[in-house]
Amino acid sequence: MLVSLGWVTALVAGIFGIHIGQKLCFPYFWKDVFYLAKVIRYGARMEMYKITSKVFTVLDRFVQQAAQIPNKAFIIYEGVSYTYRDIDERSNKVAHVFEKLGTVKKGDTVALLMNNEPDFVCVWFGLSKLGCSVAFLNTNIKSRSLLHCFNCCGAKILVVGKDLLDTLQDILPSLQEDSIQVWTMGKESSHPEVRTLLDKMEWASEQPVPAEYRATTSLKAHNLYIFTSGTTGLPKAAVITHLQSLKAAAGFWAYGGTCDDVVYIPLPLYHSAASLIGIGGTLHIGATCVLKKKFSASHFWIDCKEYNVTIFQYIGELCRYLCNQPKAEGEKEHKVRMGVGNGLRQDVWREFHRRFGEIRMCELYGSTEGNVCFMNHVGKIGAVGRSNFFYKLIFKYDLVKYDMVKDEPFRNKQGFCERVRKGQTGLLLSKVSARTPFFGYAGSKQLTEKKLFHDVFEKGDTYVNTGDLMVEDQKDFISFRDRVGDTFRWKGENVATTEVAEILGLMDFIQEANVYGVEVPGNEGRAGMASVIVRPDYEFDGKKLFDHILSDLPSYARPLFLRIQESMEMTGTFKQQKFRLVESGFNPSAISDPLYFLDNATKCYIPLTDTIYDSIVSGQRKL
Ligand SMILES: *[C@@H]1O[C@H](CO)[C@@H](O)[C@H](O)[C@H]1NC(C)=O
Ligand SMILES: *[C@@H]1O[C@H](CO)[C@@H](O)[C@H](O)[C@H]1NC(C)=O
Repeated sequence: MLVSLGWVTALVAGIFGIHIGQKLCFPYFWKDVFYLAKVIRYGARMEMYKITSKVFTVLDRFVQQAAQIPNKAFIIYEGVSYTYRDIDERSNKVAHVFEKLGTVKKGDTVALLMNNEPDFVCVWFGLSKLGCSVAFLNTNIKSRSLLHCFNCCGAKILVVGKDLLDTLQDILPSLQEDSIQVWTMGKESSHPEVRTLLDKMEWASEQPVPAEYRATTSLKAHNLYIFTSGTTGLPKAAVITHLQSLKAAAGFWAYGGTCDDVVYIPLPLYHSAASLIGIGGTLHIGATCVLKKKFSASHFWIDCKEYNVTIFQYIGELCRYLCNQPKAEGEKEHKVRMGVGNGLRQDVWREFHRRFGEIRMCELYGSTEGNVCFMNHVGKIGAVGRSNFFYKLIFKYDLVKYDMVKDEPFRNKQGFCERVRKGQTGLLLSKVSARTPFFGYAGSKQLTEKKLFHDVFEKGDTYVNTGDLMVEDQKDFISFRDRVGDTFRWKGENVATTEVAEILGLMDFIQEANVYGVEVPGNEGRAGMASVIVRPDYEFDGKKLFDHILSDLPSYARPLFLRIQESMEMTGTFKQQKFRLVESGFNPSAISDPLYFLDNATKCYIPLTDTIYDSIVSGQRKL
């Protein structure tokens, strides 16, 4: 404690001492100071948890809030308001059912497959109260990938939303074989092997669960697993420790959120943004959140007005959809003062301000599993974050030169990476250290290792490869440029190129597939495209491929464009060459190879003609 306080005092004194003279006229000085003070205050609390081995977790905070503000609305869902007490008692019931039946014990992992609804939170908290780790499954994941998820997080129980049970139909036998117990959030089930939770919750006690079940002595204890698309095949379970949960839950608070705020959560809870930052952040400040089953652009402002929303969570696409809505009267008449999210492009950002008023947009950068985060606390358009001398003392990150053609960081004669100068684009690497540990992925050391670079600037150092190309400008603003490597983003989801390539490779007529993302004007992220080589003596079959893709890949991961090639170009290190393919895009008049387009209307891959191309680029045809 003393150590950390000394450290804090020194830093704060440092800020006032060294910087005050030279930077007083700097426009962001005070904003930086206030922001840093919050970061440091939070950091000091984490240090204290470490020293005393007593962690006050996000769940502890929730239980505390439920005692202090029991009647305050915590979640509003489809017009119904659930207070802090409601959610607390209901989660106690979940805990008591599982405890009584003796099916889980402290330290077990339970998988959760649910759409957004208050019971997602009740089950999550209920199991956490028993000391279980909860694994959030992406509801888009298809059967083959879903089975794999159980192996990597070691879950023996699955709780599935009532509306999603039918999607499990074809894998229920396999789950049984693996002796995974399936529970549904219903009172009855048509599948005899599936157990029901709601009926048992009716008679279960709502009394508090003893606090020692959930107690933890380490910030590094696994708290949750959140599945992210893998860069090496199937989805990966990112390990979420209490440290990450606590950091994320401080997001709204760091941006100035208070208990009077009403937070709008339209993003899926199985992602860290909605669960850790949204739900965690709401309860941290004792506010209310409006939880949506699904985002709806036409309902967004109606909801905001009805519930007096003050903060909303976004991804870049969402703001673009809002800007694409027809103009209406009184678009600036609302109480929304802040948006918190990631991926807002400059042009959309400006348009958003023009249409809907001066809402402070707070960009937040940080991957689910990453160990670095940036916050654009001054609201500068186009930036994802802001750094300075002191921030760099806390988060050791660097931007290094990247070789686009080889698809790897540039290494000099000594074998080390080189930092880029300010204003130049580089790959963001963040150092793995005691204060910024990297927890990686559950069930696979190999996957964790793949995210790491060693001997970056000196022998023996270790950095996490974020896979993001960023720029830091002269004024210390950090902006996102592009993603490199094996993933791209589309419709707010990460798409793992190798996973898609693997699925394509299952087709008998495909010899090899190289998957990448191409930019499409008027769309966020990159649309999936695959370059494929057709096996000798086989014919390309657009119908067969369409059916295969439809059954095995979630919609955001389906390649919209195909390019038939004779041979695959490789990089010097025998990886598939993607850069040139990405650069050449999908314009049929510029590419001599046959191109195909995934056509929903005819349920087939059809030749990509100039007409189709034009209708896509002009925005007539929506993707
Ligand atoms: C929203 O604010 C208005 C005016 O302050 C108030 O009359 C109304 O009851 C509020 N609505 C909700 C759902 O709190
Ligand atoms: C095709 O249909 C799916 C739903 O089945 C949808 O998610 C997807 O966006 C559509 N794709 C295109 C290119 O229209």
